[in-house]
Amino acid sequence: MRTFVLYSQGSTGTFNLNDLPSSGHRIDTVARCVNASLWLSYALRHDTRFYVVLNGPPDPPKTLLFEGGGLEGVTPDERNIGAWILKANAVPVRGKDWARAQKGLHVSKKSFHELMREFKGSLCLLSEKGKDIRTVELPANPVFVLGDSLDIPKGELKLLDKYKPLRVSLGKRSYLASHCITLVNNEMDRRG
Ligand SMILES: C[S@@+](CC[C@H](N)C(=O)[O-])C[C@H]1O[C@@H](n2cnc3c(N)ncnc32)[C@H](O)[C@@H]1O
Repeated sequence: MRTFVLYSQGSTGTFNLNDLPSSGHRIDTVARCVNASLWLSYALRHDTRFYVVLNGPPDPPKTLLFEGGGLEGVTPDERNIGAWILKANAVPVRGKDWARAQKGLHVSKKSFHELMREFKGSLCLLSEKGKDIRTVELPANPVFVLGDSLDIPKGELKLLDKYKPLRVSLGKRSYLASHCITLVNNEMDRRG
């Protein structure tokens, strides 16, 4: 199983599908990361799942889980993915249990830190300063963690350090989050 976790400033409530970047607090970035994580040219990646921890207003945090092996009726365009995020945000959630928004899409009140604790031992933090992905030995079921345009806040990174993530680099240049996911997927596909 391949897993991606995005730390996002995105909205946990409603937003305008015609204005994902502003009204959705950069939900456009989240939609592109869902696309990059789960879509091949003509199929979904059944062995991959994508988590996003939304930390924007009005009800942070919320974690959404998109399962490549379970999704139905979602197309790869940003507007369609945005509509599913809207639907997930509207599901009433209180505890840390997962509530179903649709097949393959679930939502909970888990925080970034709680999610990191669950994935302890498999964490690969994407960082320009990490070990080169082309040569590093990865865990059997890697969980790739990355931030959106504002990066992962320093306080969260400090907490994450407790779980000793492997720092993995895609090179010295800083790439957009969705592009990082594409590069990781390509590297993992080549490894077979
Ligand atoms: C758009 S970048 C964050 C902003 C970036 N630090 C900057 O100053 O522009 C989004 C995320 O992509 C990941 N990232 C970007 N470039 C990377 C690289 N060369 N290697 C590994 N991860 C990278 C990091 O996890 C980062 O949190």
